[in-house]
Amino acid sequence: MVRVDGSGDSNSLIRVRGLDKTYQRGGGETRVLQGLNLDVDKGDFVAFMGPSGSGKTTLLNLIGGLDVPTRGNIIVAGDEITHMSGHKLTEWRARHVGFVFQMYNLIPVLTAFQNVELPLLLTRLSKAQRRKHVETALGVVGLTDRMSHYPRQLSGGQEQRVAIARAIVADPTFLLCDEPTGDLDRQSADEIMALIEQLVKQYGKTVLMVTHDPVVARRAGTTLHLDKGVLVESAEPQGVVVGGRREI
Ligand SMILES: Nc1ncnc2c1ncn2[C@@H]1O[C@H](COP(=O)(O)OP(=O)(O)O)[C@@H](O)[C@H]1O
Ligand SMILES: [Mg+2]
Repeated sequence: MVRVDGSGDSNSLIRVRGLDKTYQRGGGETRVLQGLNLDVDKGDFVAFMGPSGSGKTTLLNLIGGLDVPTRGNIIVAGDEITHMSGHKLTEWRARHVGFVFQMYNLIPVLTAFQNVELPLLLTRLSKAQRRKHVETALGVVGLTDRMSHYPRQLSGGQEQRVAIARAIVADPTFLLCDEPTGDLDRQSADEIMALIEQLVKQYGKTVLMVTHDPVVARRAGTTLHLDKGVLVESAEPQGVVVGGRREI
């Protein structure tokens, strides 16, 4: 269950309390997050929406340990990550977080196989074990027949599938997806969302996803809106009722 009022207990997989993030720039201050609370359980699929600049990426980066908050706590599976730094945080990230970005962020000179293998190079797995994991991940995303292709030889949707395979190959605790369909056409976006849904429903993955697309957000179990630095639940069901029909 997803909560935004700080009422979750220690059973929550992800527990965020009083999160503040202020950026200093050119003498000015931007308060992006202002005492934000969030609880996410294992297996939850949550979408974050909000206008450009409302702090969606900032929030994901903080939960993923890519950035540090100005104030507040983030506890994931019992680990207080806001107190970690440097090497420890890097290790934590490699073990617990799978990232999926809008622009895929694949390495152009590596094949699909090699891109997916990258996170495993940081582990103690043998070459044969790595191959097995990579083949499994590429199988899950339906790209077994594209393993030797380079990113430029793939469509945008296929590139994003490789990126998702890379995100799941080390079996992370949760996935963070920042506008995963933002650069895709409708059909490719639908396919990527079907895949992410499958990861949640079939494999029990926990997914936190940013999107500006209400069609994409509707796939998630819960949609939250960033508003003035905190999260609010959207009125359920989503959309407005026009003449008895529900429209977005
Ligand atoms: N590294 C940074 N330095 C200064 N300001 C930043 C930085 N990153 C983001 N911001 C500012 O924080 C606000 C939120 O940004 P962001 O989290 O990227 O929003 P969103 O993803 O919702 O579009 C914006 O006003 C942005 O300009
Ligand atoms: Mg963003």
